[in-house]
Amino acid sequence: MPQQQTDSIRMEAQGKFAQNGMVAGPGDSQTNINKRSLYEHNGVAVCSQKRALIIATVVFATLFIISLIIAYAGPGNDCPCAGEKPDHLESETELNSSAPSVPLATNGEVFPWNKVRLPGAIRPSRYNITIHPNLTTLGVKGEVTIEVRVLKDTNFVVFHSKNLTIIDKLVYAAGGRNLTVVKMLEYPPTQQIYMEMKEKFRRGGNYVLKLLFTSRLSQELEGFYLSSYINKNGEKKYLATTHFEPTYARQAFPCFDEPQFKAKFRMSLYRDKFQIALFNMPLILTEHKGYFSGGELICDHFQESVEMSTYLVAFVICDYDHITNMTRHNKSVSVYAPREMISQADFALHTAVDIMDYYEEFFMVPYPLPKQDLIAIPDFAAGAMENWGLITYRETSILYDYKETSAAAHQWVAIVVAHELAHQWFGNLVTMKWWNDLWLNEGFASFLEYLGVDHVMPGWKMMDQFILDKTQPALTLDALASSHPISVDVHDPVEIEAIFDTISYSKGASVIHMLEIFLHQDILRSGLYDYLNSHKYGNADTDDLWSVLSKNANQSIEVKTIMDTWTRQMGFPLVTVSRTGNIISATQHRFLVTAHMNNDTIHPEESPFGYKWFVPLSYYTDVDPSSIHHVWMNMTDVKFEVPPEVQWVKVNVNQSGFYRVMYDDSMWQAIITALHQNHSSFSPADRASLIDDAFTLCRAGVLDATIPLNLSIYLQKERDYVPWATALEHFQSWSKRLAETRAYKSFLEYMRYLLTPVARYIGWKDTGSHLDKLMRSDILASAILCDVKDVVKEAQIMFNDWMVNGTRIPPNLREVIYVAGIKYGGVKEWQHCWSKYNSTGIPSERKLLLKALGVASDTWILQRFLLSTLDRNLVKPQDVKVVLAVVAANPEGRFLAWRHLKAQWHQMQAMFGNATFSMGGLISAVTSHFSTQYDLHEVSSFFEHMNVGSGSRSLQQSLETIRLNIYWVQNNEETIYTWLSNFLDR
Ligand code: BES
Ligand code: ZN
Repeated sequence: MPQQQTDSIRMEAQGKFAQNGMVAGPGDSQTNINKRSLYEHNGVAVCSQKRALIIATVVFATLFIISLIIAYAGPGNDCPCAGEKPDHLESETELNSSAPSVPLATNGEVFPWNKVRLPGAIRPSRYNITIHPNLTTLGVKGEVTIEVRVLKDTNFVVFHSKNLTIIDKLVYAAGGRNLTVVKMLEYPPTQQIYMEMKEKFRRGGNYVLKLLFTSRLSQELEGFYLSSYINKNGEKKYLATTHFEPTYARQAFPCFDEPQFKAKFRMSLYRDKFQIALFNMPLILTEHKGYFSGGELICDHFQESVEMSTYLVAFVICDYDHITNMTRHNKSVSVYAPREMISQADFALHTAVDIMDYYEEFFMVPYPLPKQDLIAIPDFAAGAMENWGLITYRETSILYDYKETSAAAHQWVAIVVAHELAHQWFGNLVTMKWWNDLWLNEGFASFLEYLGVDHVMPGWKMMDQFILDKTQPALTLDALASSHPISVDVHDPVEIEAIFDTISYSKGASVIHMLEIFLHQDILRSGLYDYLNSHKYGNADTDDLWSVLSKNANQSIEVKTIMDTWTRQMGFPLVTVSRTGNIISATQHRFLVTAHMNNDTIHPEESPFGYKWFVPLSYYTDVDPSSIHHVWMNMTDVKFEVPPEVQWVKVNVNQSGFYRVMYDDSMWQAIITALHQNHSSFSPADRASLIDDAFTLCRAGVLDATIPLNLSIYLQKERDYVPWATALEHFQSWSKRLAETRAYKSFLEYMRYLLTPVARYIGWKDTGSHLDKLMRSDILASAILCDVKDVVKEAQIMFNDWMVNGTRIPPNLREVIYVAGIKYGGVKEWQHCWSKYNSTGIPSERKLLLKALGVASDTWILQRFLLSTLDRNLVKPQDVKVVLAVVAANPEGRFLAWRHLKAQWHQMQAMFGNATFSMGGLISAVTSHFSTQYDLHEVSSFFEHMNVGSGSRSLQQSLETIRLNIYWVQNNEETIYTWLSNFLDR
């Protein structure tokens, strides 16, 4: 069955405010004492937690009385002061159950700022940062001076800091006059520092905050962290790198870590003589700083950046090699990678240059920085990160070896490169005001990446693939009652992490695609030009986008009115089409895949639009398939007329609208007949859309299982990638759900019946178009999993030949052959792949092998494999999810994976950071295919009292999916069994 790109979006990452601020822990170790005296010396009172509690009680009692006085007297400035019932207290307490109801700083004093968001009275304008990491001791020394502007008189400033030890501070006016800091408090639950002045910062004034701090290089994949790789001599080489989005810049230096606080950044980085340092901007000066613990110390100074958000700052210290090319407008583009991997960087470099040229032309806005670096990072939580001018990538998202890498992995590199480059405009130049509009970043980049790749690789038919990769997965998730609107309120880091999900990315991209079609590309393009120009170096929200688009459509289309129904309410419509004579009626209702289950979590009144949409309905008929008609459903139903001789109508042309279509019985029959007679009456995207709708409507209980089954018979003749990939996705879920039913064996037989002809057609030669290659690998892999005998036999021969004689396997056949060798082999075959996994220098190959290792049939092997994920030297933390997902997808491994997740939950949580350990992703990968009451009970009782952080929505989605699976099996098993028996006995 088709393998998903598991490097893609971290569905939901764990997020939990760590409480380990600057407090010395229990027990007075020497270090703690030293730390304390440092703090006290500098006016930051720090003490043990026990003592803090005692002090807190005394202080609190006193403060409570004072606060009453203050509350009645009214605050002297805009600080929501201690003792008042703070505005945000309820929501804060709810967000962080560990946060006390009155916020107490690390020293036990009341923390006077009680909001997660920073005050707006002071804005940073420039940061001067110097950082000196030690890659051996992991100690980091840093200094930051933040130039700020004051918008409103105030006697305090609040900024972010997490896991930093502030050892000195100085505040002065732009002219040099020092200001006295009377109080400095830290509050770890909101990761904030509060500094109070003796005298006020005056409105219109410019001041400087100078902070000296120390920290440690993180071992997790966030903030400023340590990574490593093994070079060709077997030596371990270290690098220090950053990942700041969404809220991790505060772990590297104290800052105003919210996207609307844009400022210019200057950076100086200390490094060893044998290393290089990279920053968002080019190097301007290198200073020799003498000798330090046996090595020569260098300090690199970088050019000042443009105005940008903190989450886009990046720096790396490493010993990499690089290759460079110039864009048409003379901007230098480089790819950095370990010396032994630089030969795999060519494709990313050429693609990046071509796509930069294309975006500059398409947006008509020049790329504003002098350079663009793309760098491969060996340990990386996400797929890639769009830091302005210094984009960081997971190795498999950037390295491509034309002799070794598959077409799917090749395409992935192009997509990730195009995605992050799109952010250089959408996200970096114009940034969302706040994270509730994250979709403006991620939805746009997810849409533009397809335009970008389509431009450089026209033969890859990216716009056909768009529906497969974006629209269909988004429609699946958004049909759950536990989905959420694209625009969603978020407050703290946990909630912010949670929206880096399929809705922001793929539903976001799909609704832009729909908008592009009804607005026309030229209007979209001129609107985007306007949007970029009017908000460059600034911030925007969703309404800003709608207003430029309406303006560019000469106000002929009310873009906001239409699009609000797609972005401000969750879900999407099911358009039901029926025919009476020559009149076709189309009605709309919210589509919920679990609606028939009497789900009490559905509250239709909760939508501001009553779950009605502005639907751009498109259709064609068999009478004139080349004329496409458009009808608007303005939160209403519609009727339209067709010629009397029409047999069928295909609605939602090429699945370009974000809705599903249900036909009446006779129309389904007419469509199925047409597919059987001549499936090319419909485009490949339309065939995919019919398959996707029929299977999903059956899943939702509104369509009898015999309809998708009757429809699917035509697949015997299907030879195109997109419809096949859509069908295999659905069959894969059927296979998991039916695994314990009596229909399962007949189901596998039916799969063999459908797959055999296409497997013969596609054959074993790694040739043909890009889409042929993608299809070959999906079809043959599915044939292996369904045990199509000829395919298994052939693959086993090739596996043996490779294992015994070292015969090379063409890249697009590797997945199939590894899967066959491991699934139908034993310990010897598994061990061979495991040792290849450990020795290959090709990241795409490593990934393929890791996934194949999980299809073993021997449970002892699978259990050993699961245990290997607990040792970061065997499986990198970034890859743990891949292992659990692939074992969970294996019928022999599903219960082992679940048992492992339960048994090791706490250890995994402790081992990996917020960014790496995507709880939500893990929960859904391991549990959402369960389909029995027993398993539902298991999952819900295990998680009942668990804080799953940002994974909580994913957990709800998984539980809803399991309930649906149970219901579906109960209601469809018999029909499917009967249909299959009749069909196979013909
Ligand atoms: N901005 C994200 C990286 C990111 C993801 C930061 C999650 C914080 C949390 C980046 O642009 C991105 O979306 N990367 C994708 C790859 C892309 C091709 C879909 C990813 O990491 O999966
Ligand atoms: Zn992105």
